Amino acid sequence: MNNVGKAVKISDNVYWVGAVDWTTRDFHGYQTSRGTTYNAYLIMADKITLVDTVKTPFMGELLSRISSVVDPSRIDYIVSNHAEMDHSGCLPQIMDIVKPEKVFASAMGQKILESQLRIGSKITPVMNGENLSLGNMNLTFIETKMLHWPDSMFSYLKEEQILFSQDAFGMHLAVDRLFDDENVWDVLEEESEKYFANILMPYSNLIIKLLDAVGEMKLPIKLVATDHGPIWRSNIGKIIELYRKWSEHKPVPRAVVVYDTMWNSTASMANAIGEGLRESGVDFKILPMSVSHRSDVATEILKSSAIIVGSPTLNNNIFPTLADVLTYVKGLRPLNMVGASFSSYGWSGESLGQLNDCLKAMNVELVNDGIRVKYVPADADLNACMELGRLVGTTLRGKIINLNNG
Ligand code: FEO
Repeated sequence: MNNVGKAVKISDNVYWVGAVDWTTRDFHGYQTSRGTTYNAYLIMADKITLVDTVKTPFMGELLSRISSVVDPSRIDYIVSNHAEMDHSGCLPQIMDIVKPEKVFASAMGQKILESQLRIGSKITPVMNGENLSLGNMNLTFIETKMLHWPDSMFSYLKEEQILFSQDAFGMHLAVDRLFDDENVWDVLEEESEKYFANILMPYSNLIIKLLDAVGEMKLPIKLVATDHGPIWRSNIGKIIELYRKWSEHKPVPRAVVVYDTMWNSTASMANAIGEGLRESGVDFKILPMSVSHRSDVATEILKSSAIIVGSPTLNNNIFPTLADVLTYVKGLRPLNMVGASFSSYGWSGESLGQLNDCLKAMNVELVNDGIRVKYVPADADLNACMELGRLVGTTLRGKIINLNNG
């Protein structure tokens, strides 16, 4: 681990003192192909304040960056905006070193920090809207419950117009340059979208309410300092609009086909369905699970309004890779999807019904009962698959027309 590093000044009196994780490729099941950062911030107010900490193995890097500005023992306050371990893991050790006057978290944060780290008795809970005086500056707390944990909150530093947004607006992206405009926009958009799909999609309705509520507060915001990836400086409006778009998940003419195959029968069906989608004028992506990651499927679902899933029957069940991805995306609760299933089988053929059950559990609107083919699809079967693709495409187009007319 890296135990050296200097703070980066991000405004007159605020420093980034986080850690860059160039190595990680897995974040509890989410493939982090470009690493990540664990951001923490040091506010050099009369009351010196640390906002969030880092994942435990990166504590040395955090301390080194803090020490380049101030002796860590001079920190007065610590704020825990989010209790998940990548931001609180080393909080007990940091508290032992710093011996802060107070550590603040939301009321739920206090409970979670007790359950996880047994430090609840040392936490001062704060309320939604509460103002904390740092002497010459002020920090206001804004609860963001279930975005994405029950404890989550924002902190707003009025004098420097910084919104410390914890996971929100973040992304898993290891960077050498800290600001959004020092990085490539397309990469930021891609990784933000992936982050939203895999972490925030289940809470889309709450996000719309939060965006409205924060908008009504009319806070002047110069920086959105997230807990992962770059700090937003030049594209704040753009990322907020993208969050609204992703949260609403309005119908678009795009579908994703997700399948796995044993002897290429289900693969042939998937490709024929793709041809039908193409004929209906709907964009699509086919993701074979033998070479696709569940977190990329989640991202494609966020981009799409139809999901078509296919699996062979293996020992009376759907293929393990389909069980994995469908369990994962069911938990992400995508909105406003249409869909269909297809399967191949040899003798028992339970997978089609199981796939349909999975889609129904996701509240996907099925266009029909799906297609099941014994052993290898014949030409007529492939034609039926193309017809299924066309049906999904026309159903989707109908929904879009209805929405636009409604
Ligand atoms: Fe980055 Fe929810 O932790």
